[in-house]
Amino acid sequence: MKFFYTHRETSPSTNQELKKMAKEYAPEGTVFIADHQTNGRGRLGKSFYSPKGNGVYFSLLLRPKFQAEYAPLITVAAAVAVRRAIHTLFQIDTEIKWVNDLYFDGKKFCGILTESGFGKNGEMEYAVLGIGINVTAPEGGYPEEFSFKTTHLSDFVQEEIKKTTLIEEILKEFDGIYQNLTQKAYLEEYKAASCVIGKEIKILSGAHKGSAYAVDIDENANLVCRVKNGEMVALSTGDVSIHL
Ligand code: BTN
Repeated sequence: MKFFYTHRETSPSTNQELKKMAKEYAPEGTVFIADHQTNGRGRLGKSFYSPKGNGVYFSLLLRPKFQAEYAPLITVAAAVAVRRAIHTLFQIDTEIKWVNDLYFDGKKFCGILTESGFGKNGEMEYAVLGIGINVTAPEGGYPEEFSFKTTHLSDFVQEEIKKTTLIEEILKEFDGIYQNLTQKAYLEEYKAASCVIGKEIKILSGAHKGSAYAVDIDENANLVCRVKNGEMVALSTGDVSIHL
């Protein structure tokens, strides 16, 4: 894929801006980067704290040729790509918390939000893949609701972190996976890096809300859990918390 870069000092949300561009026929490979987001967004209506200069906040526009059922795998592929990029650049192994977060030492440092647009017949018109990585500690720390479970790359990476190099490495890794996304070759890696499988968890929303045990991640990247009554369920969306 060829990448076309747009860089802004400030953006409300790189996902939001790129979605607008997607509707105005921007090509696949358009990358929107900001140093600061005033309304950085996460999954399930949460916000993503994006202070100026402390992180890498960017979105990539995709024009998928595959069917809409594969859309959730974009986030999964991106998590593997971020993990690989960090390993390549800094020789550090990070963990993936189903479905879209990267963790180090029990704390989140990266979140991924994919938002897709569909045509009249349900076909995918675009997907905007947004990645936010905490790189350095924000002055004054993180807002209270995140502080106890949030970290940043410079807390565990010794080398100098070049943001542009990091973005380019992630995009290169993602592109490699994306070309054969429907073959799911990266799923084993995703599972092996999971910090959720084999843990007592709490399902935070939906019909199975409550304590559960995370057994596996299946071929569609659903989280397979044993819930209270012993029943096995496959979660396709939602959020879980882990007792670390
Ligand atoms: C999450 O933690 O639930 C996902 C966070 C995703 C944050 C990134 S930062 C770049 C892009 N723009 C946004 O508004 N969100 C994503």
